Amino acid sequence: MSEFKPTYFPSRRPAQVVACEELTDGVVRLTLRDAFIAAHARPAQFVNLYTSNAQRLSPRPFGVCEVNGDEFTLIFAVIGKGTGEFRGLKPGQTVDVLGPLGRGYDLREPADYVLVGGGLGVPPLVRAAQELHGRDDCHATVLFGYRNVHFADRYAAKYSDDVRSIDESEGNVITILDRWAEERGIAGGADGHLLPCAEGERPVRILTCGPLGMMKAVSAWGRDHGVAVYASLEARMGCGFGTCVVCTVHTTRGILKTCVDGPVFNTAELEGWEAAR
Ligand SMILES: Cc1cc2nc3c(=O)[nH]c(=O)nc-3n(C[C@H](O)[C@H](O)[C@H](O)COP(=O)(O)OP(=O)(O)OC[C@H]3O[C@@H](n4cnc5c(N)ncnc54)[C@H](O)[C@@H]3O)c2cc1C
Ligand code: FES
Repeated sequence: MSEFKPTYFPSRRPAQVVACEELTDGVVRLTLRDAFIAAHARPAQFVNLYTSNAQRLSPRPFGVCEVNGDEFTLIFAVIGKGTGEFRGLKPGQTVDVLGPLGRGYDLREPADYVLVGGGLGVPPLVRAAQELHGRDDCHATVLFGYRNVHFADRYAAKYSDDVRSIDESEGNVITILDRWAEERGIAGGADGHLLPCAEGERPVRILTCGPLGMMKAVSAWGRDHGVAVYASLEARMGCGFGTCVVCTVHTTRGILKTCVDGPVFNTAELEGWEAAR
């Protein structure tokens, strides 16, 4: 699969609202029509949504969850004024969008991908499952952790026959990662290659997105088990495309911008990240 190299990039533009539904209390699934985003959004790339209130200058970034024809979906939590406005969008209305932005997960390597998501971090992983679906050189296992309602399992289950989830009444994503590892007979090894999957000797790669504490725990789990972990970071952003420099992150490659150099990083290159819990 070749990496997308844009020759032209459309500017901010209105996208038509196709549907807007509340999946559970304060969690909204928004379907928008934009052929460019639907055709080009890779897993963990994000879009900027702009509110109609001119006083709220900053766009709101959201990871693309699914694409279908000329439509794409987002799933977001209603947090403040921006998401409060988007929650009320009606089919036929428009909202300004820009994207797709950022560098997503690199899924070109034939591998056994484990998609570990928590809470509102699950949308990029649904998109990853969608992209891996049908490839015979990969396998996708989906492990989701929720506070209570398992609101995204059904979307991931469209693309993976191995979706497991857990909520706070039973444990967290590390609980299901441990169970998955035990089932696979994984005790820990070097660079993922000691962990054969049923189909052969493909390496295990973990993709994660969710609350910071969760991603750090997943990163530590990966290190202990010799598995590379790629995290999609959620930084405060201004522009979303590299000009305002509010989204910096310290890495072994120097200080980088989360919006254009990420949001996906190999956690091994995030300096002091895991230690700063
Ligand atoms: C790359 C990326 C992908 C994201 N994907 C999703 C997603 O798929 N689903 C989802 O529910 N949320 C996602 N978020 C978080 C989402 O952008 C914020 O929840 C949202 O901007 C809150 O806006 P608000 O106006 O309702 O909140 P307010 O608190 O009113 O916002 C005030 C300002 O702070 C910023 N802000 C507030 N919370 C966050 C946050 N957690 N991260 C970054 N900026 C924030 C807002 O963008 C705005 O500029 C993502 C964030 C990033 C950086
Ligand atoms: S958000 Fe402006 S540079 Fe990253």
